[in-house]
Amino acid sequence: MAVLQKIPTGCDRIDQILSGGIQIGSVSLIYGEAETGKTTLAMQCVVNCARQGYKTLFVDCDNTFSVRRLSQIASDKFKEVAELIILMKPNDFHEQGVVVDRLTDYMTKNFGLVVFDTVTSLYRLSVGESASKTFEMNRELNRQLAVLAQVARTQKVAVLTTSQVHSALNRVPVSVQPVATRVLKFWADTVIALNPAENPQMVRAVLEKNPRKLQAVTCDLKIEEKGIHEYPMH
Ligand SMILES: Nc1ncnc2c1ncn2[C@@H]1O[C@H](COP(=O)(O)OP(=O)(O)O)[C@@H](O)[C@H]1O
Ligand SMILES: [Mg+2]
Repeated sequence: MAVLQKIPTGCDRIDQILSGGIQIGSVSLIYGEAETGKTTLAMQCVVNCARQGYKTLFVDCDNTFSVRRLSQIASDKFKEVAELIILMKPNDFHEQGVVVDRLTDYMTKNFGLVVFDTVTSLYRLSVGESASKTFEMNRELNRQLAVLAQVARTQKVAVLTTSQVHSALNRVPVSVQPVATRVLKFWADTVIALNPAENPQMVRAVLEKNPRKLQAVTCDLKIEEKGIHEYPMH
């Protein structure tokens, strides 16, 4: 089996700028409003990791992992891909922290990718329950990301986090979002923002940060049955 170098996202322009895909050894972030294709894009990374023979630990924090959606994206490779995924579902932010701390126990041989989808949903619930703990929760989120960055580096895997931001109309709670986004962006070497477009099938992606420190790049993506891809295709 060839050494895993990059994990393609499946969006050509983004993969081009990323010299093949998201990086092994560091943390990447996909963020955007609900329904902008964050989970779909993460699943494409899982499929493209599996195509190279490497396993994924998929931490499904908001209970939205759909086998049906995976089968649409993996297509004829579904069976092989499914066998290379370990799925975990923490119930609260504390459990998420336990998963983070035990990550290396779950990751035996041939792991290429760890996905946290959505890394901020349980954090948000926690903060919502008790505003007085916001400071503590922010510190815990930062701690978890620091551990993830270290695991990426030492285990030579890619870590992919997703985060949901709320539109201006739907902003809850006001103080939480900027802090969480800042923390996540700080730890990520690759940052992809997905912005809704007028056509609900279309998304405008902005590669805000990349390891080569090139200027931000924007491209239009379309969400379809087969996944999320550049549109128009080249
Ligand atoms: N089979 C499909 N064909 C076309 N679009 C789909 C399909 N499955 C999901 N979608 C679209 O993908 C979007 C949700 O993508 P998802 O990756 O779950 O978003 P997010 O994780 O950002 O909330 C929705 O707009 C939904 O309509
Ligand atoms: Mg999602």
